[in-house]
Amino acid sequence: MIDSPIGVFDSGYGGLTVLKELVKKLPQYDFLYLGDNARTPYGTRSFRVVYDYTWQAVKYLFSQNCPLVIIACNTASAKALRNIQQLDLPKIAPGRRVLGVIRPSVEKVAEITRNGHVGVLGTPGTVLSESYPIELEKWSEGKVKSTVQEACPLWVPLVENNEIDSEGTEYFVRKNINNILKKDKKLDTLILGCTHYPLLIHQIRKFVPKKIQILEQGQIVAEKLVDYLKRHPEMEQKLSKTGKIEFQTTESADNFNEKAALFLGQKVEAETIHL
Ligand code: DGL
Repeated sequence: MIDSPIGVFDSGYGGLTVLKELVKKLPQYDFLYLGDNARTPYGTRSFRVVYDYTWQAVKYLFSQNCPLVIIACNTASAKALRNIQQLDLPKIAPGRRVLGVIRPSVEKVAEITRNGHVGVLGTPGTVLSESYPIELEKWSEGKVKSTVQEACPLWVPLVENNEIDSEGTEYFVRKNINNILKKDKKLDTLILGCTHYPLLIHQIRKFVPKKIQILEQGQIVAEKLVDYLKRHPEMEQKLSKTGKIEFQTTESADNFNEKAALFLGQKVEAETIHL
């Protein structure tokens, strides 16, 4: 077991797109990645269920000595993060911190949008939660004028089933992109509001006009974490720094190893755990 790693949690493989960037920006730190592959996808589940699963995972990562956990999943950030931060942590783990992926993305959009017309692609859960329109309204200092959303219910299962380059995936990516483009003809920034979607970036780029900026979250979350650690030396000092990464999954480790290696471009040896 690593001493005091940064925990990174996702419902499956999507969070690896965030982990990859975290490790690039913060190579000296230790990381423990947990994918709840046995219960993925979260995107179609109710608030209660996503909250329960996410809180179980966070408590598990605390039991593995993580002082800080990044919820590298929009669905879980949208449906569980606020309760965890405001109600659970003060009661159960006041010295630990849990951060999500929506707020950093929203802040970045406010910096880069040129005309304030923003689109969000996400799971049905993220879209229904209205988290992006609400947070964009709250944190963009009036820079975002319109937010349209499109739920892409099949994209996560397609990624999880290794169908990234298939014709079927191309069909569904084209369909959802065309839908969102029709919702706002002035769109200038498109948020990939699900950490699985960067894995489909080659398909997505085929259908998004070049003038629209596509925002992937990994780099942004990593940049914001660097900044967070500078502003919170008390947390920074708690984190161990031996450059190790461990992987855990709630499903078969062999499956995880094969796909994670594909997504991360490096060999991975995961361990199966039970939540
Ligand atoms: N990576 C998760 C997200 O960002 C996928 C959610 C799911 O499991 O459906 O929303």
